[in-house]
Parts: sequence; C-alpha cells; structure tokens
Amino acid sequence: MHPTLSLEITAFNKSQLAFADCPQVAFAGRSNVGKSSLINALAGRKQLAKTSSTPGKTRSINYYRMQPLDAFLVDLPGYGYARCSQEERNAWAKLLEFYLAETPGLKGMALLLDARHEPQTIDKNLAQYAQGLHLPLIPILTKADKCTKRELQTCINAWNRLLAGTPLLVTSAQKKDGVDKVWEAVLDLIHRVDEPEISEETNEEVDEPNVE
Ligand code: GTP
Ligand code: MG
Repeated sequence: MHPTLSLEITAFNKSQLAFADCPQVAFAGRSNVGKSSLINALAGRKQLAKTSSTPGKTRSINYYRMQPLDAFLVDLPGYGYARCSQEERNAWAKLLEFYLAETPGLKGMALLLDARHEPQTIDKNLAQYAQGLHLPLIPILTKADKCTKRELQTCINAWNRLLAGTPLLVTSAQKKDGVDKVWEAVLDLIHRVDEPEISEETNEEVDEPNVE
C-alpha cells in the first residue's frame, strides 16, 4: 500500500512556504511535462492535482501530505512557459531556487522530462543546480506512451550520458506505467537518513551543538 496524498497548502510566494523542516520530495519540470498528471497517478485519483493541456496550469507550490507519514510531496510550478511575461518567469525562477536552496527537509528532487524530446538546456540547468546543492535527483521520463520505442531509447541514452549513474524512471501517467517505481524512489529518499556533515578542514564529523 502506498501513502495517500491530500493537498495541504498552496504557496504563491516565499512567505507562504511551509513545512520547511518536514521531509519532502519536490516534483519539478517544464510546464506541461505532466507533473500534475503523475501526481494524480501516484495518488490513484483523477483530479487531485489540476491538469491542463494549456501550459502554465500550476502556478503555485502545492504541498501534498503523504498520509500517514509526516512527509510531503511538493508540486513545483512548471518552468519554461513561453507565453508569460519575462517578469513573471523571473519571479517563478526565484521562488523555485529559493525553495530548493532553503528547505532543510528537502530530501531530493524528481525531475520530470518529456520522453519525446532531447534534453533541453533549461532541464539540464535545473539538474545541475540541484546537483550543486547536493540534492539527490530522481529523473523521470513522462508521456512514454506518446513515443516510439526508438524515440524513447534515444531519450534514455541521452539522459544517461548526462546524468551518469543516476537511474532513470520511465512513466506514462495515462497508462499508469512506472508509478510503483516512482513511489519506491520517493519513499526511499523520504526514509533516507541524512549523512553527517563532514568538516572540510579536519575531515571529521561535525558535532551538533549541545542544546540544554
Ligand atoms: P503545468 O501545471 O502547466 O506545469 O503542467 P504539468 O506539468 O502539471 O502537466 P499536466 O499534468 O497538466 O499535463 C499536461 C498535458 O499533458 C495534459 O493534457 C495531460 O493530459 C497530458 N499528459 C500528462 N501526462 C501524460 C501521459 O503520461 N501521457 C499522455 N498521453 N498525456 C499526458
Ligand atoms: Mg501542473
């Protein structure tokens, strides 16, 4: 049995961000890549997260509680949406970067990638940004039902080259393919115990300060 998902909070700006210390995994990807659809497939519900064929549907950060765990699955606003103002795009990018960098409970980022396309610069940049923050990545190809086996293999090969060693998950929210594997990877991160910080100078574990 997987946890059930329920929408807890919707945040539109920094001040509305919540649950920063709770374990969470974020779902990021280009607008229209299928984030909300995959979340619905994970939930086993059709309309938990609003989906749309018009890009830019999810404009907020949505926190879904994974019942009965005290943990969250976080749907991030889609990036790279061409038909909104530069100002709006910058604001989203800033909010996204702030969330990724300043959420201590964040255990990792699922990066959703359209199986029909070659790796796009904006996706590669986000993968690098997350890796720079030492955030574990779960790369997920979406809409696998929409491409031929050959196209799929080309896409898998390209991402494997770029993300050496990080296993890629292949999904179709429409056919419910790969959903169990996504749950497995998400729960694996949620339950992963944080490794102790190593001091660069002494190469020894850093003790937590004693709080009386
Ligand atoms: P934003 O909220 O705009 O960032 O988009 P999103 O990433 O949440 O995408 P969403 O789930 O709304 O899906 C966008 C469109 O792709 C919708 O028309 C979905 O029905 C379609 N779609 C999503 N996943 C799949 C899939 O696995 N297969 C097929 N064939 N279509 C899909
Ligand atoms: Mg969405």
